[in-house]
Amino acid sequence: MKHFLTLLDIPKNDLQAIVKRASELKKNPDLVTAAPRKTLGLIFEKSSTRTRVAFETAINQMDGGAIFLTTGDSQLGRGEPIEDAARVLSRMVDVVAIRTFEHSKLEKFAEYSSVPVINALSDDYHPCQLLADLQTYNEHRGDISGKRVAWIGDGNNMCHSYINAARMFDFELAIACPPGFEPNADLVAANADRVQLGEDPRSAAAKADLVVTDVWASMGQEAEQADRVHSFADYQVNAELMALAQSDALFMHCLPAHRGEEVSAEVLDAPDSVVWDEAENRMHSQKALLEYLLNQ
Ligand code: CP
Ligand code: NVA
Repeated sequence: MKHFLTLLDIPKNDLQAIVKRASELKKNPDLVTAAPRKTLGLIFEKSSTRTRVAFETAINQMDGGAIFLTTGDSQLGRGEPIEDAARVLSRMVDVVAIRTFEHSKLEKFAEYSSVPVINALSDDYHPCQLLADLQTYNEHRGDISGKRVAWIGDGNNMCHSYINAARMFDFELAIACPPGFEPNADLVAANADRVQLGEDPRSAAAKADLVVTDVWASMGQEAEQADRVHSFADYQVNAELMALAQSDALFMHCLPAHRGEEVSAEVLDAPDSVVWDEAENRMHSQKALLEYLLNQ
C-alpha cells in the first residue's frame, strides 16, 4: 500500500507512468481499470472546486463512489482525534483524499490508516495539481526533462510541489519570491542542483519554457491579503514578463486566479495559457492516480 502525501512518495518511474496513463485515459476513458464497490472518502477542511469535482468524477467513471465530508459535518470538527478517525474511516472506505491545513495532520492520518491516503492540498504541498501540470506540459510541448520552469510569486504549497517535481521529472526550476515569502529553505537546499531561488521575477522568467504562478494569499491567509498585495506588487505575470521567456513558453496557474493580481487578464486568457487544459487534466490525472493506488 502506498500513500501520496508528496510527489516523493511514489517512485520516479511510477510517477512518470501515472502522468502518461492520465493522457491515455483522456484519449480513451474505457481503458480505465474499473473499481466497482470501491469508495473514495474525501475529507475537506478547505474550499475546493477542481479537486473535489475531479476526484468525484474520476471515481464515478471507475464505477466506484465517493463520500464527501467536511470538518463541519463530521466528528472531526468536534474534536475526534485524527488517529481515531483514520482507523474508523479506513475500515470502511478504500482510499481517502484529504485537504487540510497542517501537513502533519495528513501524516498522522496516513500513519493510522489501513488504506491509501492522498494529499488533496495541505499548507505545505499540492502534489495532485502537479500531476495535472506535468500532463499538460507533456501534451503541449513533450518531455519536460531538461526544460526551464519559472515559479513567480509566493513560496507556497504549489511552489514546494514544483521543487519536488523538478527532482522527480528532471527540470530546472527558477523561483522568484519577494523577501520573506521564500519556500522552505531545507527543501530548496536539498534540491540546489536543480532549483535556483532569487527575488527578481525577470531573471527567473528569462528563457523559461514554462511560467507558473499562484495566488498571493492562499487559503487560510485571507487576513494577510491586503499586506500581501503590497509585498507582491512587482510579481505579476504579465505580457512584459512573458516576453522574457521562450517564444513558445506556456503559462500555467492551478486556479482559482485573480486577474490583475498575480496574473494579468491578458496572460491568463492568451493562447499560450493552458490553464483550462490544466484544470481538465486534474480529472484524468486523479483517475490515473486512483487506478495506481487501488491496484498496488
Ligand atoms: N487547483 C485546485 O486545487 O483547485 P480547487 O481549490 O478548486 O480544488
Ligand atoms: N496556494 C493555493 C492553491 C489553491 C489551489 C492555496 O493553498 O490556497
